[in-house]
Amino acid sequence: MKLNIAVLAGDGIGPEVTAEAVKVLKTVAKHGGHEFTFTDALIGGVAITAEGTPLPQKTIDVALAADAVLLGAVGDNKFNALTPDKRPEAGLLAIRQHLGGFANLRPCTAFNALSENSPLRPEVTKNVDILFVRELLGGLYFGKPRAWNKETGEAHNTMVYTKPEVERCAHIGFQLAQKRRGKLTQVDKANVLECSQLWRATVDEIAPQYPDVKVEHQLVDSMAIHLMNRPRDFDVVLTENLFGDILSDESGVITGSLGMLPSATIGGKVNLYEPVHGSAPDIAGQGKANPLGAILTAAMVLRHSGNLEEEALAIEKAVNEVLAAGHRTGDIAGQGKSANVTTSEMGDLVNT
Ligand code: NAI
Ligand code: MG
Repeated sequence: MKLNIAVLAGDGIGPEVTAEAVKVLKTVAKHGGHEFTFTDALIGGVAITAEGTPLPQKTIDVALAADAVLLGAVGDNKFNALTPDKRPEAGLLAIRQHLGGFANLRPCTAFNALSENSPLRPEVTKNVDILFVRELLGGLYFGKPRAWNKETGEAHNTMVYTKPEVERCAHIGFQLAQKRRGKLTQVDKANVLECSQLWRATVDEIAPQYPDVKVEHQLVDSMAIHLMNRPRDFDVVLTENLFGDILSDESGVITGSLGMLPSATIGGKVNLYEPVHGSAPDIAGQGKANPLGAILTAAMVLRHSGNLEEEALAIEKAVNEVLAAGHRTGDIAGQGKSANVTTSEMGDLVNT
């Protein structure tokens, strides 16, 4: 298997955690006889410093020529005085647009060894394995018209979806459910919103094409409660942009630390893979960052861009084993306890 991976490490802890993810990918390549090539490119604050812009054309070219883009994080306090369109974060929004992915995959996996870090009871979080499929390019966040009229004191946003936008995202949800436990939960507010009725009807229309997937619908407000009470009942959770943003963040309670969460955005020209966390300037450059979110993101590269499910599972298993053996960076050490490994030591442990 050949994979050409663009590596956009970015700012703060981005380069530290991305180095560990690349290390793990190189090990997978070596053992499996795969040919992975890595092309570095600048994004965020480091790109502003070197090239005067958070997303240089060179980086766009490298990303569009790749089979997958692996991104660390962007953001550097040194640029806080700049307007939003010039800041490091603008580079992230721009690369997402260039790559065009519309389905944001966010796994919510319980690491049983970390169960004491969650405020939920271990018997609730044990073995939870949910995959959120959040529509990323439509809905309330992009709909027009949108305005805040400060004179009249009125503000409005528009939630808009077209059937093709729902269909393409729903197909991804169904296909992922087929490869997993065969259950798809579509979340909406169909008792109040027309957009939600479109989602529900479209998913029902597509469902017969996937007879091996069991479909259920949930209203978003009750779903917020079910996720905390019985998260093990869910497999793939498919939903629109706003609901997906909120529910996937809420489910972060199950996994514990932000440093553990991977993500992938698929469906566009090139898939974009990034840990959920930011550049964490408070701990950057000190070997304190948890690289497991980035390493689990590397597993998603193998699963979704390489079709290497076995290799992806092997990485996830190695992460579980390292945690079960008691290795901890500061963010997952638990209350009052401190880290017993550095960023690169954690990467090495997963690698062996
Ligand atoms: P953050 O995710 O960088 O950090 C939040 C807290 O979690 C901090 O205390 C940090 O130390 C900790 N943390 C995050 N990742 C960790 C890891 N892997 N290991 C251990 N601890 C970890 O979010 P924050 O502080 O709101 O933003 C910092 C900068 O990152 C800002 O410039 C922000 O705009 C940017 N950012 C970038 C994102 C991206 O590149 N996708 C996403 C979120 C924020
Ligand atoms: Mg959010």
